[in-house]
Amino acid sequence: MNSVEVCLTHQQLENYQHIDKNVIVIDVLRATSTINTILFYGAKSVKPVESLEECMKLRDKGYIIMAERMGKKVEGFDYGNSPTKIERDLFEEKNVGIATSNGTKAIVKTKGSHITLIGSFLNLSKVIEYLNSNKRDILLVCSGWKGSTNLEDTLCAGAIIAGLENFEYKSDTVIIAKKLYDQSEDDILSNMKKSSHAKRLSGYDNIKDIEFCSQVDTQEVLPYLDNDDIKLL
Ligand code: MLT
Repeated sequence: MNSVEVCLTHQQLENYQHIDKNVIVIDVLRATSTINTILFYGAKSVKPVESLEECMKLRDKGYIIMAERMGKKVEGFDYGNSPTKIERDLFEEKNVGIATSNGTKAIVKTKGSHITLIGSFLNLSKVIEYLNSNKRDILLVCSGWKGSTNLEDTLCAGAIIAGLENFEYKSDTVIIAKKLYDQSEDDILSNMKKSSHAKRLSGYDNIKDIEFCSQVDTQEVLPYLDNDDIKLL
């Protein structure tokens, strides 16, 4: 029977085996929610990069460039990392570069997986459907916040686990994520609002981001990492 594991922060990824697994990277507030939205709005590709310098260089290649640090837009970039500040028509057919505090770093680290999918509440059922119909060991990678476990990514990992059929649990983090979701599934938003990052974001007038990122199954997309770019599967 295939197994599922949960890595609670991308810094812990070195303790897990991701090679040849179905890997789902989760950063609900907001990187994976934003990346899914960009592709849902018709962008051609999203390039996750680790450094601001690398992201800035993409402007000369005609990319829209986005960067966030400490939850705020970085000066000099076209956008920060807010899915509610993206104008659909400006992103259609565009290539986008994005550098965030945790999520894009997590994505880049998973190269070597069988496939890396971009997960959020927005495309929850698409992720679950893929994992159940393409049976392989699974690693759910929560981005976390600067090395700490966060509530919203763990909650989303639990939501994915709740939908899996015939997988065995290999670590306690799976049980933790599943139990968190079992207690929260009736009201994702109010639980997300308790998270430290939601409190940080609400201080920067991003309440609507938290509401947007807590929506379930509003985007029928399944983005995956194709070498260095994220595209729709
Ligand atoms: C991250 O990458 O850690 C988050 O997406 C940060 C944010 O967008 O607030």
